Amino acid sequence: MSAETAATAPESTSAATPALRAEGITMTYRNGLTAVDGVSLSIARGECAGLVGQSGSGKSTLARCLLGVQRMASGRVWIGSQEITALRGRNHRDQRRRMQVVLQDASGSFNSRIPIIGSLLEPLDCQPATLRRLMAERGVGRRELASDLLRQVHLEADLLDRLPGSLSGGQLQRVSIARALSDQPEVVILDESTASLDVSIQARLFNLLKDLREELGVAMLFITHDLGAARFLADRMIVMRAGRFVDECASTDLLSPDRDPYTRELVDLFRTHTG
Ligand SMILES: Nc1ncnc2c1ncn2[C@@H]1O[C@H](COP(=O)(O)OP(=O)(O)O)[C@@H](O)[C@H]1O
Ligand SMILES: [Mg+2]
Repeated sequence: MSAETAATAPESTSAATPALRAEGITMTYRNGLTAVDGVSLSIARGECAGLVGQSGSGKSTLARCLLGVQRMASGRVWIGSQEITALRGRNHRDQRRRMQVVLQDASGSFNSRIPIIGSLLEPLDCQPATLRRLMAERGVGRRELASDLLRQVHLEADLLDRLPGSLSGGQLQRVSIARALSDQPEVVILDESTASLDVSIQARLFNLLKDLREELGVAMLFITHDLGAARFLADRMIVMRAGRFVDECASTDLLSPDRDPYTRELVDLFRTHTG
């Protein structure tokens, strides 16, 4: 594949190069459990792939492997044409930023004593050059840039000076999304990022994510046990079971009676739970 030939030149990435690619990801916990077992994946630019499967199937472990925060037994990961598993130290950090994550429990990722603006701009504060470039491009100062980021997720700028404890779970999750998008990543991994919220707030977040995806063209790996949400957001569905991908299909085919027996089992289980 041509991605290899361009491995050292991320800027030469063509539109055909996937936003995220992984080959042969395997991860075994110390207790001997292989939570991810030789998984490969490719997400096109601007595509949203849904990763579904029952609790314990290895979805979060895979996400951590992709993000490079979990040591793998084997496997390679590319963002665009850059293999990030081949990089170390500062080079790794610089490239890895092109992929961001939104986790389930937003409150855990905020320092309770730091006003929202500090947490929101944390990724950009770590890269003063990018912060300066964004401010110059938009002709705004730091605070206005933060306000714009909040507006993008339909939050009011007056939240900037508040402490995280005074925001609702839904508001904090929106700030997490704004923070993940602040550095204009090519890939965002969302791991059960709405699971702890009320159903009505979840629905609004799904709409927001759908809009943002269309607006920004960012690729997404949307990890969830909520098949309804995955069908709403994702173009393509990947079904995971016991560390392996057992089925893949267009989202519109998920409910088809012709699917893999495990997928049908999962769909039946989901229907039973949601009535
Ligand atoms: N730190 C850990 N040590 C040992 N086993 C773990 C650890 N974290 C997760 N597991 C196990 O790995 C498997 C996959 O877990 P996880 O990736 O969290 O699945 P999912 O996100 O699909 O619910 C499960 O059997 C889980 O119990
Ligand atoms: Mg999980």
